Amino acid sequence: MKKKAIILAMVVGCMLIVSLVACQPKQASEMPVADTGSQEVETETADFAWTPEANCETCHPNSSNSYTDSACAASQHADVACITCHDDAEGLEKAHKKVTMADTDGAEKLKKTKVSSEVCISCHPLDDTHASATADVTALTDKLGNVVNPHDLPVFEDTGRGTHEKVLCADCHKMHSSETPEDNATTPCKSCHHQGTYVSCYSAGCHESSE
Ligand code: HEC
Ligand code: HEC
Ligand code: HEC
Ligand code: HEC
Ligand code: HEC
Repeated sequence: MKKKAIILAMVVGCMLIVSLVACQPKQASEMPVADTGSQEVETETADFAWTPEANCETCHPNSSNSYTDSACAASQHADVACITCHDDAEGLEKAHKKVTMADTDGAEKLKKTKVSSEVCISCHPLDDTHASATADVTALTDKLGNVVNPHDLPVFEDTGRGTHEKVLCADCHKMHSSETPEDNATTPCKSCHHQGTYVSCYSAGCHESSE
């Protein structure tokens, strides 16, 4: 009697193990490896091939959870698909080249891609209300007391030190964290205005005028 019970338990145990193991390749093949039309991608990473149709949520829980967190600007974009903003197709393909199905905790920062300002402007046009919406914002006050409107940076020709076109909407507007645009406003200025003053490079006394 006892012997039979032990054998039965072993058989059931083995069947369980076999069925668990058998599930794994099936899960991988069920992933949305959409119509790539070629096999070359498959050989690169065994179980995940990047496609813009992939289910982003499986591996980017923080980004997708931010859609329902009212502290994050993503929550204002509930109807906007991930790839509407993340439209750098080439960069995304590179970023996911070595990714496997086990990599389910996403990325902490954009490293290989950028969200261009054009994407934002396509829905938030740069009309009069853009600059007036932030006319009273004082987040950009330098140590001399100059206050700069974050939506009205001076426009000038490139003198070889870069222009304000390099300041991206995404530098200040984080989507998936509760950092506010005020929190981040001064960050993009520092790389150029390294004295912490929002004045001409020449009047600040840091660089000689070329004239
Ligand atoms: C409205 C535009 C927008 C949408 C929609 C959007 N993102 Fe983002 N995402 C950004 C911007 C801007 C950044 C960079 C700023 C930042 O750090 O939040 C970013 C950053 C990221 C990062 C880097 C890590 C991080 O949190 O900074 C990942 C990963 C990411 N997004 C994935 C996603 C996924 C997945 C979705 C869909 C579930 C999504 N994004 C939807 C604009 C967007
Ligand atoms: C199988 C898991 C997986 C899926 C599915 C996935 N990602 Fe990722 N993604 C990752 C991992 C892991 C990284 C970090 C790669 C690294 O750091 O090398 C990443 C990186 C990123 C980044 C940061 C790129 C950068 O600038 O460095 C963005 C943005 C992103 N993914 C968006 C998406 C979007 C949008 C989708 C859906 C269309 C998606 N991901 C689907 C795992 C995944
Ligand atoms: C597909 C269209 C679309 C894209 C792309 C988009 N947004 Fe939005 N955004 C919206 C909509 C719709 C709302 C909610 C309605 C509103 O307040 O304008 C919104 C709301 C916002 C808000 C809050 C507005 C408020 O009054 O508080 C900010 C800030 C914002 N978006 C910034 C951005 C930035 C920065 C980007 C680029 C990274 C971006 N959006 C990309 C459509 C878009
Ligand atoms: C230097 C930082 C900075 C940059 C760059 C920036 N913003 Fe803002 N933005 C702010 C601040 C600060 C606010 C005020 C936030 C508040 O009221 O809570 C704001 C408010 C907004 C709002 C809500 C107010 C409104 O207009 O209805 C939108 C939408 C917006 N920004 C879009 C954009 C877009 C699109 C870009 C790129 C073209 C951009 N921002 C670039 C800092 C910035
Ligand atoms: C890519 C480099 C770069 C970045 C980033 C940058 N600036 Fe500038 N900024 C410049 C240059 C170059 C000038 C003009 C130089 C000149 O004419 O002397 C300038 C001029 C200015 C002026 C006009 C000063 C005057 O007296 O004419 C203001 C105000 C200013 N920047 C504010 C900012 C703020 C605020 C930020 C961050 C949101 C920022 N800048 C980010 C390079 C940059």
